Amino acid sequence: MVILFGILCVILVFCFCSALLRWNEVRYMRKGLPQGTMGWPIFGETTEFLKQGPNFMKTQRARYGNVFKSHILGCPTIVSMDPELNRYILMNEAKGFSPGYPQSMLDILGKCNIAAVHGSTHKYMRGALLSIIGPTFIKDQLLPKIDEFMRIHLSDWGNKVINIQDKTKEMAFLSSLKQIAGVESSSIHQPFMKEFFKLVLGTLSLPINLPGTSYHHGLQARKNIIDILSKILEKRRASQETHLDMLGYLMSGSENKYKLSDEEMIDLIITIMYSGYETVSTTSMMAVKYLYHHPKVLHQIREEHFRIREGKKLEDPIDCNDLKAMKFTRAVIFETSRLATIVNGVLRKTTHDMELNGYLIPKGWRIYVYTREINYDPFLYQDPLTFNPWRWLGNSLESQRHFLIFGGGSRKCPGKELGIAEISTFLHYFVTRYRWEEVGGDKVMKFPRVEAPNGLHIRVSSYSN
Ligand code: HEM
Repeated sequence: MVILFGILCVILVFCFCSALLRWNEVRYMRKGLPQGTMGWPIFGETTEFLKQGPNFMKTQRARYGNVFKSHILGCPTIVSMDPELNRYILMNEAKGFSPGYPQSMLDILGKCNIAAVHGSTHKYMRGALLSIIGPTFIKDQLLPKIDEFMRIHLSDWGNKVINIQDKTKEMAFLSSLKQIAGVESSSIHQPFMKEFFKLVLGTLSLPINLPGTSYHHGLQARKNIIDILSKILEKRRASQETHLDMLGYLMSGSENKYKLSDEEMIDLIITIMYSGYETVSTTSMMAVKYLYHHPKVLHQIREEHFRIREGKKLEDPIDCNDLKAMKFTRAVIFETSRLATIVNGVLRKTTHDMELNGYLIPKGWRIYVYTREINYDPFLYQDPLTFNPWRWLGNSLESQRHFLIFGGGSRKCPGKELGIAEISTFLHYFVTRYRWEEVGGDKVMKFPRVEAPNGLHIRVSSYSN
């Protein structure tokens, strides 16, 4: 009797689980969709995706092909691992794609943030953005600020054990704050940094606005950041002084053809800080790691930077010609971004029902343009798991059609050259001033984001000792 009851229970649980698993399949059943599985109600396959990471993608691709359906991060999603389709989606936003970033991110970054706007508004905001992070502004205004910042930030690292993950995060944040609001940056950086870190966490959380949730803290942090920035705008307007920084240029009437409201200006500034923060800090941290493990690369990059210093006095800053001369450093940065895959892919949403590669994709479905695997494609990158910056010299790889480390099409990263300038200047002062070794034992996770959960500790000593 007991055995029979046990068997009945097992059968019931099995039937219940099967029904739950069928729920999403039935709910999202449409004619013409690619194959794939939709997982559990509400959660879909998010747990498998986050736990198994790239292996989840590879397993699904082996079963269903380069394009498959799933339900991850709260949405029915088409995952594309097809290089041609990925390129098509990025290059053809006007054919019915919009950014598909999570609601929490859009709410916290603001309705004028670049990922929330489309069409002509996107074009205008992007123009305004490029006017303060593009090559001319980098050369005339930003590079001197970055140089001054890096010299000071890296001035007392010798004879210490430091957590390079924390240091590069601080660096990315403080360096961009200096570029945004040069004069005020030193007085506002502490309250701003506290709020900024909360804002970042909030964008990666579920949009549940209850006290205590990361989303709630994120929204609160947004309010406080708006407050800090609005006060700067007010003070600057009252003083009539000229400021040679991003805010100064955005506020200037005559020189600047982009006229933005205060709300737009503030959302643009938040966008710049947010987009450049994790990308720049993580690439810098991983470059330090790869350089330590590849002495030949470290030797060559040092040679490049000492050559640049040869013609300079100690106090002479890095200028644009020096940046141009840092060819090997640029190659190290690309190789770091490729091998570590700092960005796994980008998200889009369909704005109407559409046909893609013969599949029918309903309006409002998310498309995960998953570009990670292309970084390890042996046809593009010989011996793809080896850290080999020399492969980038000569530039042909940077201009190949599947180079999507910085995205592509109308949303291709506008901060690419600024990011490279910041990381290059950081590496310049780091490798010419210091030697370092890893303390050991620190783990680096590669998915869903590249991070060292307990920090990455290095023992630093002066190079000249
Ligand atoms: C160096 C490391 C960087 C990497 C690997 C990187 C990567 C990317 C990628 C893949 C995209 C495309 C996103 C999409 O299509 O949805 C993107 C867009 C963007 N990036 Fe970067 N980025 C970097 C640095 C920066 C910096 C330093 C800034 C700002 C100063 C920045 C600002 C932006 C902005 C505003 C967008 C959105 C553009 C638009 O929607 O039109 N990025 N970035």
